[in-house]
This record gives sequence, C-alpha cells and structure tokens, in this order.
Amino acid sequence: MTSSEQTVGATARATAPAVAARGVSKRYGATVALDSAGISVRAGETHALVGRNGAGKSTLVSILTGLQRPDSGDVRFDGAPAPAPADRDAWRQRVACVYQKSTIIPTLTVAENLFLNRQAGRGPIDWRGLRRRAADLLSGYGVAVDPAALAGSLTVEQRQLVEIARALSFGARFIILDEPTAQLDAAAIERLFGRMRELQAAGVTFLFISHHLQEVYEVCQTVTVLRDARHVLTQPVETLSRDDLVAAMTGETVQTLGTGADRPPPPHPWCSTCAGCGWPATTTAST
Ligand SMILES: Nc1ncnc2c1ncn2[C@@H]1O[C@H](COP(=O)(O)OP(=O)(O)OP(=O)(O)O)[C@@H](O)[C@H]1O
Ligand SMILES: [Mg+2]
Repeated sequence: MTSSEQTVGATARATAPAVAARGVSKRYGATVALDSAGISVRAGETHALVGRNGAGKSTLVSILTGLQRPDSGDVRFDGAPAPAPADRDAWRQRVACVYQKSTIIPTLTVAENLFLNRQAGRGPIDWRGLRRRAADLLSGYGVAVDPAALAGSLTVEQRQLVEIARALSFGARFIILDEPTAQLDAAAIERLFGRMRELQAAGVTFLFISHHLQEVYEVCQTVTVLRDARHVLTQPVETLSRDDLVAAMTGETVQTLGTGADRPPPPHPWCSTCAGCGWPATTTAST
C-alpha cells in the first residue's frame, strides 16, 4: 500500500460512522426479528433507536454487540469490519451495552466486577491493588461508588454508571443504553443525561433506546425508527415532529386530542409496557 493510499484509508476511517449495520436480517424460527434493517451512527452523536415492542431493537443491539450473528448483512465500526464473533476482547474494545437487566455479578464487589478476567499476571490476585485500580478508574469517570461494596448493594443508577465506566475502561467509545431510564426516577434520569452529555463532549458515541419519546428529544440528535423488523427512517431529531415520529413507529397518522386533565389518557399507541410517556393523549387513524 502506498502512503497516499494509507492516507485515503485513514481519512475514510476518520469520517466513517462509529457503527454502521447494513442489510441485517435475523430470524428466530418463524419470527422475522430483522428484515434487511440497518443503522448508521455518526461518531460523537447520541442516536436514538425507537420502535414499538417487538420492532427488533434489542435484536439489532445483540448483533451490534456481537452476541448474535445476523443471518445476512454486515456491521462495521469506524469503517472497519466487525471483529470475528469469537474475539470477545475485540468486541469489548469497540462497543458495550448497558441493559435494563444488570450484567454485573451481585455477589462480587464492584472492583471484582470491573476487573473480572483481566487481572494482570498469573500469580495470586493482588486484592489491594485491584481495589486501588478500581477506585482510580471510578474516580476518573466521576463515579462515586465504593470499589469494596458488593455489586448487589448498588442502586440501579450506580450499577449503570459502573457498567459505563467498565465499558470505557475496555476502550469502547460506542455505548448502547437499552432502556436505561425504565427503572430510574426523574432526578436520576436527569443525572444520567448530564453524564451522557459530558461523555459525549469527550467523544463518546451513544445509541439510546427508550419508549419515552420526550427523552429522545431531550438527549438525542438523530433518531432511527424500526417498525415490524424494518428500518423506517433515520432523521435529525430537530427536523422530526413528535406526531411524525409516532406515525413512523406505528405506521398510522396521529390526531392529538388534548391533555384533558379530568380523564386519563388512552394507552399510548407506540408503547404497551410503560405507564404513560408524559405525552399528550393521542389517538391514531390508519393511513
Ligand atoms: N431469542 C429469541 N427467540 C425467539 N424470538 C425472539 C428472540 N428474540 C427476539 N425474538 C422476537 O423477535 C422480535 C423482535 O424482538 P426484539 O426483542 O428485538 O424487539 P424490541 O424492539 O427490542 O422490543 P421491546 O421494545 O419489547 O424490547 C419479536 O417478535 C420477538 O418476540
Ligand atoms: Mg428490547
């Protein structure tokens, strides 16, 4: 390769999306979870992934994190092909997902969770050193959690911050948050968003999944909608009205009825699990 070819390659990588998935299909038996779907997330943005229950969001996440292999399609990080499926270390350096359900082990300490399977050397484990490294890592990311605490004693908010710090410490600069706000109260959600904005300013890219659409407008710059296993749109959040976003998710147009405080809103058409998204009551009409 000539030096100019190397320069061209380096430039292409520098401008390439942090992650791009194209033509991804995935079946589970008779269920088509993804049908030639795709997503492209620009480096440094916070990108929302939304869709009704069963639209294929978590399936796409499992493919973007290398936990599932697509039946067809490909995934690239920073313009380069995704690692081999078995090379978990390489995946961990590129992407991490913080799930609603914790992936940390409750009976181990925070420090043990952070350094599980990556203690330096082969001799006996240096517990004091491990705790010190964990304390350094957590304070480096501004996470006020005792490394000696049992992970099972952490709040959901603390657990998420530990998981984000762990992901960053593996070198990942692309972090997926799959419904991170579902179990947080309003104050904890604001703190999470504050932390996301700080990390974004430091160059971290987020893919943010939520059924609470006002959160998409609060913290994301771009939104991708999946519907019935397919990609429907990717658009800057500021150019997409809420009604158009709901219409993209449901395939139906939205007529706003108003918020009549004296009557409860009908179930939100895009969400069958959460008890109200803080949006005006709506009804839908088939197009
Ligand atoms: N392991 C699996 N085995 C069988 N079917 C699956 C499996 N995982 C997902 N599916 C099916 O694939 C489709 C897409 O599911 P997925 O979990 O990706 O949706 P989602 O958009 O994340 O939904 P939710 O908002 O409820 O989390 C659904 O019909 C689901 O039932
Ligand atoms: Mg899901």
